[in-house]
Amino acid sequence: MSFFSYRGKSLSVGRVPLASLAQKFKTPLYVYSQASLMDQYLSLKNSFSGRPLLICYALKANSNFSLCRVFKELGAGAEVVSGGELRQALRIGFSPSKILFSGVGKTRDEIRFGIKQKILAFNVESFEELKALGEVSAQMRLKASVSVRINFPIKAKTHPHTVTSGNLSKFGVNQKEAFLMYEWARKAKWLKIAGLHCHLGSQVFSSKPYVQAASLAKNFIRQLAMRKISLSFVDMGGGFGVGDETIDFSGIAGAYSQEFKEWPALGLVLEPGRFLVAESGILLTRIVHVKAGGKRKFLIVDAGMNDFLRPALYGARHPVVSLEKKTGKAEIFDVAGPVCESADFFARDLSLCAPKSGEFLGILNAGAYGFSMSSQYNFRPRASEVLVDGKTARLIRRRETFADLIRSEA
Ligand code: LLP
Repeated sequence: MSFFSYRGKSLSVGRVPLASLAQKFKTPLYVYSQASLMDQYLSLKNSFSGRPLLICYALKANSNFSLCRVFKELGAGAEVVSGGELRQALRIGFSPSKILFSGVGKTRDEIRFGIKQKILAFNVESFEELKALGEVSAQMRLKASVSVRINFPIKAKTHPHTVTSGNLSKFGVNQKEAFLMYEWARKAKWLKIAGLHCHLGSQVFSSKPYVQAASLAKNFIRQLAMRKISLSFVDMGGGFGVGDETIDFSGIAGAYSQEFKEWPALGLVLEPGRFLVAESGILLTRIVHVKAGGKRKFLIVDAGMNDFLRPALYGARHPVVSLEKKTGKAEIFDVAGPVCESADFFARDLSLCAPKSGEFLGILNAGAYGFSMSSQYNFRPRASEVLVDGKTARLIRRRETFADLIRSEA
């Protein structure tokens, strides 16, 4: 369900017209709907009942303090992939006992910090990492919890950049190596085996790979049980797609309860990022110039690929709409940013009625991997962010300034 809709002629979030926010806070501007964040979280939670459930929000999708705080207040945990994200998750107030730390390149400093914080578990992605974890925990004389990330032989259909399974992937380990790792971890004095982790890829729409993964996870857990290794939770990862299609959670939830029915106390962990935040966000941008002299007509806008990289990096399609509905004859435009790269486009062949410079456009489904992947390329300060709760629009990140751009130069 979209929380952005036209009220009269004005695209609005709830009752708040977005053009008024663009005027007030200037553009480029990310606007998020708090109602949407809550709705997505609760609908996901309600889809998976029947066993202990922990939803660990993947901070990489959007790590803004105030936005993440909404999930923390609803009882979520966090999935982090760097020391920075771990610190941010703790600052937001996520309980360490609900934080999972993934990533193929955790440094010893990051491992040390995670152990000290007593996080729920490290999603371990290689044997070397496991050994480093064993060594550091022994040095610290503190227990560290382990969940091995298994790369099951399953293909999840998605963009090549967001595939994380298969034997060409740098993520996780195969089942054979995973067994050896669990055996090794069992003998390590300062390690505690906590769970099993898998994550199939991102922007996955089919329930099939999740169903297949559950069956393989069941077989794996059975074999661990034969070796007297038991788990507290099974972590099936994130990756639920957002866009034109919708994902069938009932099929996935049904498969999980079926496959894991012999272990009623086994906790279920999910690590969604995009599903929770993508639709809550819109990127507002102003038309700077209408460039109509050549063969193609361009709308040059003030947001660029440095603000929102997905279209340029993945060829991702995000609807681009006018904030004020107009009537009249429509013409075809390409919408491009100001960055000096030919890939800096948000839409091709967009049909719009008499757009003029100074007017605003909105780029939809921009809440996930939008701001979090933004950069200062072309010496452009990063955008500001606003969270709308009912009638209240609150600035949750101020726009960067030139001073911010040069702050760290020595
Ligand atoms: N868990 C792990 C271990 C992950 O690697 C990821 C995403 C997630 C959870 C969350 O996945 P989600 O539910 O958000 O699909 N920048 C790309 C997406 C990269 C995803 C990386 N890992 C994009 O904009 O499409």
